[in-house]
Amino acid sequence: MLEPAGKPLNAATRYCAVLGHPIRHSASPAMQNAALAALGLDWRYLAFEVHPDDLRPVIEGARAMKFIGFNLTVPHKLLARDLVDSLDETAKTWGAVNTIRFEARDAQGKWRPLRDFPESIPREIRSRGFNTDADAITRSLREDLGVKLSGAKVLLLGAGGAGGVAALKLASEGVAELFLVNRTEAKACALKAEITRRFPSVKVTVGYPKPGKMALDLLLNATSLGLKPKDGLPLDAQKFSLRRARAVYDMIYRPAETELLQAAKAVGRRTANGVGMLLYQGARALEIWTGKAAPVEVMRAALLKNIYGP
Ligand code: ATR
Repeated sequence: MLEPAGKPLNAATRYCAVLGHPIRHSASPAMQNAALAALGLDWRYLAFEVHPDDLRPVIEGARAMKFIGFNLTVPHKLLARDLVDSLDETAKTWGAVNTIRFEARDAQGKWRPLRDFPESIPREIRSRGFNTDADAITRSLREDLGVKLSGAKVLLLGAGGAGGVAALKLASEGVAELFLVNRTEAKACALKAEITRRFPSVKVTVGYPKPGKMALDLLLNATSLGLKPKDGLPLDAQKFSLRRARAVYDMIYRPAETELLQAAKAVGRRTANGVGMLLYQGARALEIWTGKAAPVEVMRAALLKNIYGP
């Protein structure tokens, strides 16, 4: 079925895109094009498979072609920090760029997003990097799982890119205690050091909580374990019983229910998958480009249909 489209493509149509490697299974075009149509914008959102070695020329080409902006996914988020002309506070704070907005100078010399130049766009354009992932994590934990983060005790599995941003963001929200578990323990230790430096009031432990009665408010999986059918659980069930977590969140959204979420549900725990994160990072990126409130429910419906079918 055809997605709801705005006006037919024409010479004034403006473009955004997601760049990744791989990119074929991205649900972002379905979500963002539904939103653009709902907002009545003569814009389109595309997807491009871009090798990391080509990211710089792609950004340069898009600047020359007056793209509105980009989303970046694996493996570009760290690399892009060094390739954009300027970093928004969000990108500086969270150390990764998942959204780029192109901006031109107006007659007063002020940088403005390209949406503010409906007719002719000045030649001097800069790329500005943002991070919308970090806020999306906590928004999804609150809205989709009902977790109160301030004062919470959290077990975080995974200290890679996504896990690192999640840990820092949770610390910034005032969680009381964080347990960090990662296959490569050195990464969890490095993350602990960064959290302790930036958010000294958060108690951080590398490893599982000691056996006992202490209940945790949240177990968060930020590893890639669960993406494939035979991956098994991302945690050591001998060392931590799912009954000790009040709520369980898995950043993985394909499959809709990982083995972890199934096991958590089986013992009566509240669960949510990472589709909310994908939705909210996209909604905020759209707002950064358009200056309009994102039609979140339109985006959610398009996303769910694209990922899980009608
Ligand atoms: P992302 O950007 O999605 O976070 P990443 O930075 O590659 O991707 O992180 C992947 C996470 O999944 C890491 O925590 C990784 O553990 P390591 O730091 O030890 O690599 C974890 N992970 C991936 N495969 C795993 C496996 N087979 N067992 C346990 N953890 C795994």
